[in-house]
Amino acid sequence: MKKRKIKLAVLVENMATGRGIRGEHGLSYWIQVEDRSILFDAGQSDVLLHNANILGVPWDEVEAIALSHGHYDHTGGLAFLPGITVHAHPAAWSPHCARGRGRLSFIGSPLSKAEIEGRGASVIESEEPTELLPGVWLSGQIPRPHSFEDPTFCRDFYLDLPGRPPDPIQDDQALFIESQQGLIVVLGCAHSGLLNTLELARSFDSKIFALVGGLHLIGAPPERLGKTLSFLEKAEISRLVAGHCTGWKACHLLEEAFAERFSIMHAGQILSF
Ligand SMILES: [Fe+2]
Ligand SMILES: [Fe+2]
Repeated sequence: MKKRKIKLAVLVENMATGRGIRGEHGLSYWIQVEDRSILFDAGQSDVLLHNANILGVPWDEVEAIALSHGHYDHTGGLAFLPGITVHAHPAAWSPHCARGRGRLSFIGSPLSKAEIEGRGASVIESEEPTELLPGVWLSGQIPRPHSFEDPTFCRDFYLDLPGRPPDPIQDDQALFIESQQGLIVVLGCAHSGLLNTLELARSFDSKIFALVGGLHLIGAPPERLGKTLSFLEKAEISRLVAGHCTGWKACHLLEEAFAERFSIMHAGQILSF
């Protein structure tokens, strides 16, 4: 494969760096490959528009948005993007709920699929991998052979407010970008588990070059942290940019293991590959 110009701007992240850039619990990325671009996730509000304007993102060239999953901190910004094509897993619109701080609350998309379509957007649903741009794949549903990566390890997720059916967050997907150096894996919250996600990534390219996003290791027990860390070390990843739901403890361990190959993600950051 010939070298391609790949650029990723972090539009929404819990932390922010740069004049006027705002932070917000959530994620959104603008991804440009050569002269074409898409969004991955929407954050939870108009912060993505605010930060994108400061960073000079050319909105009229953005072809579509893909969603990593249906939680509000990845979908809420859709209310500020009328008319854009939305790619998602069909379960993204499920009534996602979670128990936290002693109470059960709705944490799904503030807009339903019908409301998004009513605002002029077309919604394309698939459980299979979708090539959004040449060599840029929305992963499709992620198989979970590593059963120790239980999505409910940190919090109880349910599919209704009475808190009955557990929510496996089947809609969780990652973005895979093919590059000359290997695959760039971009994560939302990695609810499917990091090992599970990277196993699927390897079916696209056996060499994983970079890992960017929320690793969802916040509150992970030491055993899970240890298994994840040794998997990542063996995978010989050259660049690791982590944030959102990764957690400070995991970030600290990753920095020790990866040294200068590791960095913390923040809104306003522009990565070039
Ligand atoms: Fe999430
Ligand atoms: Fe999240």
